[in-house]
Amino acid sequence: MLCYHSHMFDTTEMADTFSLSEHIVLFPGDCLDLLRTIPDESLALVITSPPYNIGKEYEKRLKIESYLEQQAAVIRECARCLSPRGSICWQVGNYVDNGAIIPLDTVLYPIFTGSGLRMRNRIIWHFEHGLHCSRRFSGRYETIIWFTKSEDYTFNLDPVRVPQKYPGKKYFKGPNAGKYSCNPLGKNPGDLWDIPNVKSNHVEKTDHPCQFPVELIERFVLSMTNEGDWIFDPFLGTGTTIVAAVRHKRRGAGAEMVEKYVHLAKRRIQEEVTGTLRTRPMYKPIYDPDEAGNSLRIAPWGQKQDEKQSRLLEKKTGYTTK
Ligand SMILES: C[S@@+](CC[C@H](N)C(=O)[O-])C[C@H]1O[C@@H](n2cnc3c(N)ncnc32)[C@H](O)[C@@H]1O
Repeated sequence: MLCYHSHMFDTTEMADTFSLSEHIVLFPGDCLDLLRTIPDESLALVITSPPYNIGKEYEKRLKIESYLEQQAAVIRECARCLSPRGSICWQVGNYVDNGAIIPLDTVLYPIFTGSGLRMRNRIIWHFEHGLHCSRRFSGRYETIIWFTKSEDYTFNLDPVRVPQKYPGKKYFKGPNAGKYSCNPLGKNPGDLWDIPNVKSNHVEKTDHPCQFPVELIERFVLSMTNEGDWIFDPFLGTGTTIVAAVRHKRRGAGAEMVEKYVHLAKRRIQEEVTGTLRTRPMYKPIYDPDEAGNSLRIAPWGQKQDEKQSRLLEKKTGYTTK
């Protein structure tokens, strides 16, 4: 058991088995084994990105049917452990079968509703980096499906509001005419989130092939939980969920089966506790290569491309709509 000083609580121990009196639990093993030890209705938020079954090094390729059965067993256990005001958020992409895609949120949806959960949002997480496809458009978003156990769920909008586009806008008629029409705390961030994914030049990049950016999880932690609450990630990877929990004075627990990722997660959580973990800050504007004056923006074949463009345009002038 590790012991160190934390800015969150006086001393924080990193336990490897679950107990409600702990603050951080990192279980090195199968999430179902950890879930069995978690009491009913004790978790405020379950957030995860499960293995996608797309042949990453830690994934044994499964048929979609057995993949969904395995997911269902974990989802049902998470639903049992979820507090009445709690939320489950599942971040997924596509299952790819010989070039054909199955959007995983669509096939997981009935498992969640069958466990008595209700959907609140289907968040589109848009990012710029990923594989370049040649026989379909490259995938540049994944979804995060959010379910709650009841109608009476925790949702704190104020800590996650974002700046308005037109903060100076005023009501032009009615009893409030002339007053500012927006909330000075900012606006609802909406359900389309533009957050860079963790690829090679991201400050948070480790050896793990698909980690969450910390800022993505912070938004869930702040809006769906309160200080001291338990946040759980059954497929912990590099420990991002616990990092975001610790950062905002929540308790964090998770399971990870692969030893090298357990070590990575431990290291990152310790760095978070001691305040040395480097992360991309929430609300930092997305890098704009034009604004940054990046010279790679100028295509060396620019001249040729222009010619092609004008040829295209010339052709177009020949079209008629009749
Ligand atoms: C998509 S990654 C999650 C990455 C994580 N969101 C992060 O920020 O690093 C899924 C992780 O689940 C782990 N895993 C797969 N099956 C598991 C299981 N049954 N129990 C616990 N961990 C598992 C894999 O080793 C992998 O690290």
